[in-house]
Amino acid sequence: MAKTPQEQESWLLAGWQRSQFDEDSGPSLGVIVNIDRVVVVTGVSSGIGYGITKSLIAHQCHVFGSVRKEADAKRLQAEFGDFFTPLLFDVTDEEAVTRAAAEVRSRMKGHFLLGLVNNAGIHVGMDAVADLPISKLRKQLDVNLIAQVSVTQAFLPLLGTDLTLKGKPGKILNMSSIYGSYTLPFSSAYSASKAGLNAMSEGLRRELKPFGVDVVIIAPGPIQTEIWGDLVRNAEPTTKKGSVFNGYVQNAHRLSEQECSKPGWFWDSSVVGERIWKVLSSKSPPVHVVITPNWWLNWFGPTFFPRHLVDKEIARRFRMSRPHKKYASPGAKEE
Ligand SMILES: NC(=O)c1ccc[n+]([C@@H]2O[C@H](COP(=O)([O-])OP(=O)(O)OC[C@H]3O[C@@H](n4cnc5c(N)ncnc54)[C@H](OP(=O)(O)O)[C@@H]3O)[C@@H](O)[C@H]2O)c1
Repeated sequence: MAKTPQEQESWLLAGWQRSQFDEDSGPSLGVIVNIDRVVVVTGVSSGIGYGITKSLIAHQCHVFGSVRKEADAKRLQAEFGDFFTPLLFDVTDEEAVTRAAAEVRSRMKGHFLLGLVNNAGIHVGMDAVADLPISKLRKQLDVNLIAQVSVTQAFLPLLGTDLTLKGKPGKILNMSSIYGSYTLPFSSAYSASKAGLNAMSEGLRRELKPFGVDVVIIAPGPIQTEIWGDLVRNAEPTTKKGSVFNGYVQNAHRLSEQECSKPGWFWDSSVVGERIWKVLSSKSPPVHVVITPNWWLNWFGPTFFPRHLVDKEIARRFRMSRPHKKYASPGAKEE
C-alpha cells in the first residue's frame, strides 16, 4: 500500500539513522567523509541519474540521490553504501522536496553543497500539437520544468544564497537535451519543457552571478536509457481518432525505432556521468554542455543551418514533404 507523506518521511529518517549509526560501534555508516564533495542528484533510480551517481561516487563524492520507490532506495543503498544517501520524493511534491532539503541541510554541518543536478524527467510520448491532450502537456511541463524550479528553490540556500554557510558556493546543473534547442515533429511537448528549462537556466545563471553559483545547461543527445523505452510504451497515439496526423505519428514511431536500432545511435550514461564530474570540478564551467553521438546529425546540422533548410531535411526524414493521401484524410483507415 502507498505510504502517506508522513510515513514516507519517517521511513526516510529511519533509513538515515540506520545509516549513520552502526548498532555495535556507534557512528560509522553514512558519515560524509568529504564535506566539499556533496551533490544532490534527482532521479537516480535508472538511466542518466544512475550513471551520474556511479561516476560521482567513483570520484569520492557523497551523493544524496532522489528516488520515488523504497525498493530503489534500498537497492542503491546496498550498491553504493556509505557514499550514498537516498532521498524519497517525487519532484512534483513541493512539501516532500522542502523536507528533503531540510534533511540534507541538517547533514551538511553548515557547509555549501558542491552541486545540485536536476536530472529527473519524463517523455510523455509523441503527439501532433494539433491533437496533443492538454493533460499530457501539463504533465510534461510539470515534471520537466516546474518541478526543476521548485527543487532548485528548495536547495538554493545550500548552494550559495544562505550567506551564513561555509565553503565555496555550489553549481546547479540542469538536465536539458539537444531537443531544448530544436524540435522534431511530434515531440513538441518534450522540447517545450527542455527549451523552458534552458530559458529558466539562463535567467537563473544571471541572477546568481553575485552569489558565485554557476548554472549549467547539460544537453545530451541519445543516451541508452529507459526514457526511450517509454517512447515505445507510449507509442499508442493519443491523437484523436481519424486525425489527419495519426499516420504521420506512426511513421515517426517507426523512424525512431529504426534509428534506435542502429549501432552507435546511443551513448552510455557513464559518458554523461563523467562530463558531470568535469563540470562540477571545473573552476569556470561552460554554460551549455552538449553531449551527443552523431554530432553532425544531432547537433551541428539542426542548430547551425538556416531553419528553412533544416525544415526541408526533417520533412524528408519524416516523409512529410507533402500531404500523404493515405494518412491525411480525416477518418482514413490507418495501417
Ligand atoms: N536518455 C536520453 O537520450 C536523454 C537525452 C537528453 C536528455 N535526457 C534527460 O535526462 C533525464 C533522465 O532521463 P533518462 O534518460 O535517464 O530516463 P530514465 O532512465 O527514465 O530516468 C528518469 C528518472 O527520473 C525519475 N523521475 C521521473 N519522474 C519523476 C518524478 N515525478 N519525481 C521524481 N523522479 C522522477 C525516474 O524515477 P522513477 O524510476 O521513479 O520513475 C528516473 O529515476 C531526463 O530529464 C531526460 O529528459 C535524456
